[in-house]
Amino acid sequence: MAWKWIKAFVCLSMCVTSAVGNEEASCKKCADFNNPTWLEYRLGTKLKVQYILLTRNNADCASLFTQDCLNHTQKHTPYFNLSLPTKVIVHGYRALGSKPSWVSGLAKALLQEEDMNVLVVDWVYIASFAYNLVVENYKEVAVQISVLINKLTKYGSTLESFHFIGVSLGAHVSGFVGTLFIGKLGLDPAGPMFKSADPFDRLDSSDALFVEAIHTDSDFFGISIPVGHVDFLNGGTDQSGCASSKFDLSVFIYFPVYGYVICDHMRALHIYMSALNRSCSFIGFPCSSYEEFLAEKCITCEGPFNGTCPQIGLLKNSGITATPLPNQEKVYLLTTATAPYCAHHILVELRVSPLDKNADVQLTLITVGHPETELKLKLNTDEMVYKKVTAHPEQLCKIDSVQVKNTGARFYRQGDIHFDYICISEIPQTRGLDPLCVKNINIGRGVPWSHVFVQVC
Ligand SMILES: *[C@@H]1O[C@H](CO)[C@@H](O)[C@H](O)[C@H]1NC(C)=O
Ligand SMILES: *[C@@H]1O[C@H](CO)[C@@H](O)[C@H](O)[C@H]1NC(C)=O
Ligand SMILES: *[C@@H]1O[C@H](CO)[C@@H](O)[C@H](O)[C@H]1NC(C)=O
Ligand SMILES: *[C@@H]1O[C@H](CO)[C@@H](O)[C@H](O)[C@H]1NC(C)=O
Repeated sequence: MAWKWIKAFVCLSMCVTSAVGNEEASCKKCADFNNPTWLEYRLGTKLKVQYILLTRNNADCASLFTQDCLNHTQKHTPYFNLSLPTKVIVHGYRALGSKPSWVSGLAKALLQEEDMNVLVVDWVYIASFAYNLVVENYKEVAVQISVLINKLTKYGSTLESFHFIGVSLGAHVSGFVGTLFIGKLGLDPAGPMFKSADPFDRLDSSDALFVEAIHTDSDFFGISIPVGHVDFLNGGTDQSGCASSKFDLSVFIYFPVYGYVICDHMRALHIYMSALNRSCSFIGFPCSSYEEFLAEKCITCEGPFNGTCPQIGLLKNSGITATPLPNQEKVYLLTTATAPYCAHHILVELRVSPLDKNADVQLTLITVGHPETELKLKLNTDEMVYKKVTAHPEQLCKIDSVQVKNTGARFYRQGDIHFDYICISEIPQTRGLDPLCVKNINIGRGVPWSHVFVQVC
């Protein structure tokens, strides 16, 4: 009997009012995204938006959101708790029939961090049309979402408790919802992630109390326009992996944008999820360009952030404490090619004795058990000091050794190279933490040099 009751509890833990009738059958069914077909697509199905609710009580089995979800005396339905914060997830453009499979992972990561309502906007029907039609219709989706939010505020939610996480076009949908509430919606604490190369840049910092954007495509579509209070731009090493898609080519004939849309999202999302996971932190440095950032021109968090660089994740206002909030402030960070993608920013500084000819060297940072970090450097006869920022999966005190190879030697007779020093340090620089330096190094042809650091964290 007890067993049956538990089962019934599981069965009915969906706010799907239509799930009467065959309860046995509905047991195994969790709510899912709409599944538009080619036929519906060609017939031009009318706008159909539905909402899916995930809470800590049903993180593994989504429910369609209905009025019942607001009634906590309905014991067997996941309860939309009006006094908790609500994350609204808005997906972007979809190739026909493809569901945003990443949503459950994101929802779980969010629920693990904080007790909240996760409301997923399913506008797959509209988002699956040809891209131009989708773009024409996205404002209508925003209007429908705003109607729902109005209702929820009548029941007791506050506008500030809503925070949108929008992907690609979903970010512009979110931005437009924000516009409808004259910027009073709390995109708190973090904000939409989105794809800057979308032709319709609707999102901007006036759309909400706080807008945070994560751009992962800057190498693909050129430098993007900042749109938030803070814009994270990553210069990951593997962004171009997006170009080679596993999808059937015919997809591109009908949906030419699909290839870049999906890949780019995946990276931005995984970065966001890793940040929620707190595997390590994603700190962005204010800088005027990516090149300046790499050339160590921007190693502090002074300036617009008053000493505290913003971080991707759930921190309020991305951890920015400076007032007033900055606007359209671009911050740069490096990410690694593999999960969890977060990197420690290591500053490599070296000074070479005058050279007869230009030379090539490869410097490798090694932490046992992690991918190695390789840095290729071209040394010129007229330059002696070199500084570079690179991404390493572990913090400075966990770097076991540094290795330098004279890589030019294979192609032409490059003589020995003498370094006055090689120093590595971590940025943002913290007081009391000296750089690790090795002095007076000779690197012969074909003989790699390495130095083991003895240190404890
Ligand atoms: C909430 O659900 C209970 C039990 O099903 C029902 O009696 C009550 O009328 C509902 N309240 C509202 C406001 O819908
Ligand atoms: C809703 O959330 C508040 C704040 O966490 C909590 O005190 C309350 O018990 C919750 N209500 C229900 C019905 O779970
Ligand atoms: C989050 O952490 C868990 C374990 O702590 C791991 O299994 C999962 O893959 C992580 N997710 C991401 C997106 O890094
Ligand atoms: C900057 O930080 C200092 C010390 O943390 C604080 O006293 C000052 O008010 C801050 N300034 C601004 C503009 O936020």
